[in-house]
Amino acid sequence: MSKALTGSQLRELYLGFFEGKGHAVISGSSLVPQNDPTVLFTTAGMHPLVPYLLGEPHPAGKRLCDCQRCIRTGDIDSVGNVSHLTFFEMLGNWSLGDYFKEEAISWSFEFLTSPKYLAFNPDQLSVTVFRGNELVPTDETSVRAWMKMGIPESRIYRLPIEDNWWGPAGQTGPCGPDTEMFVDTGKAACGSACRPGCSCGKYFEIWNDVFMQFDKTAAGEFVPLKQHNVDTGMGVERTTAMLQGKASVYETELFAPTVAAIGRLTGRQAGQDPQTDRAFRVVADHLRSSVFILGDDQGVVPSNLGQGYVLRRLIRRSVRFGKKLGLGMGFSASIAETVIEQYRNVYPELERNRNRIARELIAEEEKFEKTLDRGMAEFNKVIEQMKAHRQAALPGRVAFKLYDTYGFPIEFTEELCREDGMTVDIAGFEKAFEKHRQLSKQGAEKTFKGGLVDNSEATTRLHTGTHMLHRALQMVLGDDVKQKGSNITAERLRFDFSYPTKMTPEQIKRVEDIVNDAIARKLAVTFEVMTLEEAKKAGAMALFAAKYDEQVKVYTIEGFSKEVCGGPHVKNTADLGHLRIVKEEACSAGIRRIRAVLE
Ligand code: ALA
Repeated sequence: MSKALTGSQLRELYLGFFEGKGHAVISGSSLVPQNDPTVLFTTAGMHPLVPYLLGEPHPAGKRLCDCQRCIRTGDIDSVGNVSHLTFFEMLGNWSLGDYFKEEAISWSFEFLTSPKYLAFNPDQLSVTVFRGNELVPTDETSVRAWMKMGIPESRIYRLPIEDNWWGPAGQTGPCGPDTEMFVDTGKAACGSACRPGCSCGKYFEIWNDVFMQFDKTAAGEFVPLKQHNVDTGMGVERTTAMLQGKASVYETELFAPTVAAIGRLTGRQAGQDPQTDRAFRVVADHLRSSVFILGDDQGVVPSNLGQGYVLRRLIRRSVRFGKKLGLGMGFSASIAETVIEQYRNVYPELERNRNRIARELIAEEEKFEKTLDRGMAEFNKVIEQMKAHRQAALPGRVAFKLYDTYGFPIEFTEELCREDGMTVDIAGFEKAFEKHRQLSKQGAEKTFKGGLVDNSEATTRLHTGTHMLHRALQMVLGDDVKQKGSNITAERLRFDFSYPTKMTPEQIKRVEDIVNDAIARKLAVTFEVMTLEEAKKAGAMALFAAKYDEQVKVYTIEGFSKEVCGGPHVKNTADLGHLRIVKEEACSAGIRRIRAVLE
């Protein structure tokens, strides 16, 4: 029998195990990535580590482990089944050019099966490995490593790239074959083709070891990495469910208080019928994710763009399912309290941002509540007409009206249509949207303290430019300027910061002059490794919550700025050329956004 651990016990045991194998335990990062244009949210533990996977030395060494909160909304419509979550915690261990396949697999096996650790029966485990294709051969090294652990070949499945390849969360970055570990739930196989990865639920995936050997470039090429890395991810909620012998993640203590809170508010219970269960799960999952996004120190709030749009979709979808359960106004904030109570010891930012969480949930729910019923009436009317005319696709202008007048996110309308066996004319919708060029859907499809996603020279120069801009803004506008977000591509930088009013043209000019003057002075850019506490004492700006005794890198631009940052940066400001601010605009309440280029 496996050990019936709680989620907290699993976290501790995992980090302790890998610490014992020479790994430094590092803090997880913010849910909102910095400097990384490819994703809206941190989608995996490897995300904040991209610069190190590409070869940048990490201050804590070559073996790391952590617990990272993640958001994935790519398959939001699947939420409601037994295991799909939009927010989850991922335990991970990394080798940055240190150990590789054999060690990673033997430690995964030891942690899963040793009586000292999870104590899964090895007979319950199946694994998958990369089958190979015309570019990369079958991962026989991993097959042999599993066989050495005693897993028979019949339970080692060689699967194609769709199953056993970890591509970068964004378009470019480190990638490679992986090997995934599944627990057999004991359910009967759904057919002769049933295997790990099959959706019937017999096999439950709990851990993934990725062997990063390549960097995928913007041109779509796979360039061998300078170093071989290991990136692993174990889902806390899923593994906890398997350890406790539960059929779904919602039955573990990680969700039980939330499910109970929904039950109290509705007078209903989960476990009665599939439709009710689905609604319970959607509300529990989406509100937990919303609490973590709103509770993040980066301060995302609902909007029609980017991260704010993802948040809006989560809250609104939860409101729709909440209605099915008969949940009344204000339920979101009320259930959020339960989530905060449960997680505030591990994630103190939830406590810090408690008021914002409640305020924004109440406001968003109110906003949508007003239009949801009318929008649904309109939707139902159109659907009836469509049925009468044997039309299968909802016209784009109707989808746009639902979006624009009634606040239905387009994905939401698509889901409603699917429930009725219909589709949406998306091209028509996009046409209707043309006037509103900053289309939110684009944001919605991408999913997020991260480093640079590529370490090209252009991006690196803009990264140093961002530090200089940050400092110059503080010099001109005062210490109230705090970084709220940064997004860098090879072409431009984008920097969000707190400041109440529009900058005047004179202020913009002064900021540019300060940066360009510092560039012209050819200042050296250097870094030192120290603890966060030492960094703060040295006057470094530190945006992210790490533990005080954790080793961090501090980048200094000689006599100009000092900031805790993973890098990479140029060696001298002379490499930058000339910085020009292209645009200064409002981003959200109290937050300004600057776009700038180097010429
Ligand atoms: N990056 C891998 C995953 O998220 C470990 O599955």
